[in-house]
Amino acid sequence: QEVEQTYIMIKPDGVQRGLVGEIISRFEKKGFLLKGLKLFQCPKDLAQEHYKDLKERPFFPNLIDYITSGPVVCMAWEGDGVVASARKLIGATNPLQAEPGTIRGDLAVQTGRNVVHGSDSPDNGKREIGLWFKEGELAQWESVQTPWLI
Ligand code: PPS
Repeated sequence: QEVEQTYIMIKPDGVQRGLVGEIISRFEKKGFLLKGLKLFQCPKDLAQEHYKDLKERPFFPNLIDYITSGPVVCMAWEGDGVVASARKLIGATNPLQAEPGTIRGDLAVQTGRNVVHGSDSPDNGKREIGLWFKEGELAQWESVQTPWLI
């Protein structure tokens, strides 16, 4: 059976505000496995494809302008239950409703500047990793887990 993967993206505001290390660190400390990582200037057509389910929404043009306004950090993270767990670490879409302790709850105030994206299902995780990463860009490795002492 395939291991679950999710696509996590630090949005342009997160990069510009110097939050890259802070955000990556939360997923690392949680214990998920980093499989892909790059800084990337997203072209408009890719942003539109990624968010295609939202194209009838009034905020769609703003969302596309936002995501393409500067470099993003693209990540693939792996682990059992990683999709739902990453969504919990990220917090609610509206940062004012996101719980303290979550990324958005701690670091953001506006829905339109909510610093990070996470896939909403394992199927979308697969789809989005396929969109944002090319063949060969994902690493093949397993972390060396420190064994528990007794
Ligand atoms: S919905 O209504 O449930 O489909 O929307 P939701 O899942 O909450 O959000 C889908 C993505 O759209 C982004 N979003 C917005 N961006 C800019 N402006 C406004 N008003 C806005 N509302 C929602 C939201 O952050 C989600 O993007 P990601 O990248 O997945 O966080």
